[in-house]
Amino acid sequence: MTDSRPIGVFDSGVGGLTVLREIIRRSPGESTIYLGDNARAPYGVRPDEEVLAFSTQSLDLLVERDVKAIVVACNTSTAVAIGALRRRYDLPILGVIRPGASAAALATRNRRVGVIATPATIRSHAYFGAIKDENPAVEVYEHATPTLVPLVEAGELTGASAEAAVAEALAPLFGERDAEGESIFPRPPGATIDTLLLGCTHYPLLRPIIAAVAGEHVAIVDSATATASALAELLSINGLEASPGGVGAPGASHLQLTTGDPGSFHTLAGRLFGAAFPDVERVELAVATR
Ligand code: DGL
Repeated sequence: MTDSRPIGVFDSGVGGLTVLREIIRRSPGESTIYLGDNARAPYGVRPDEEVLAFSTQSLDLLVERDVKAIVVACNTSTAVAIGALRRRYDLPILGVIRPGASAAALATRNRRVGVIATPATIRSHAYFGAIKDENPAVEVYEHATPTLVPLVEAGELTGASAEAAVAEALAPLFGERDAEGESIFPRPPGATIDTLLLGCTHYPLLRPIIAAVAGEHVAIVDSATATASALAELLSINGLEASPGGVGAPGASHLQLTTGDPGSFHTLAGRLFGAAFPDVERVELAVATR
């Protein structure tokens, strides 16, 4: 069985393109429709009710476009809304948290994993729960790093000031004490994480700096790669691949939609992902009525 309908990929803005990029790399025969709710991004500093309402409106639009499965590429949206979204629609919905958590739980050797994400994702403890589900013996150190999304959106992916900002954001995970001298994480002396999970769409774009700050003994795991693998498996299990065995088929198409200004989306996406970024279309979201 094959199904040539597109996969819907949703994010609050451009960051989810890190997930889309991995999906296209992993499943080149699949068509996609990407929706970024740029008009209302960032989600990571919003209350849960707003994240849920905006995510629902966004997925309603993708479902109207007859997608065969949806990837909620936004960590914040997955953390807050995935359960409600799965109850609302009849098609397979994949979030980014379980695949990332599973990869991190398998990567750690000393059973100490750090997670960095937006304030809303950290507040939900969704990564904590998902990693514990994989291996209850893993100690999970969650840490909100709200300065990193604005850094990426400003296109600051390299250079001394980006390095300083990343080092400051990660210091509590690796340093013993915070700026006030308080110990951040209760842990035995000498214990440190050996795996750092990038729990936000934007962070893979800072991966080289994050890896340098974390040091060579820390494995960096990102949810984008793990989610693309999980999606390939989901399509195969459900008989939803566009071509038998998921091998590259000619004619895969990729449509980018934004609730914000297409020009700004295009400029930012081009800066982050390369000048050949395709055209972007503007859409309005209907207010969800149920
Ligand atoms: N997409 C969000 C996430 O992965 C980051 C940007 C935002 O806060 O909207 O959590």
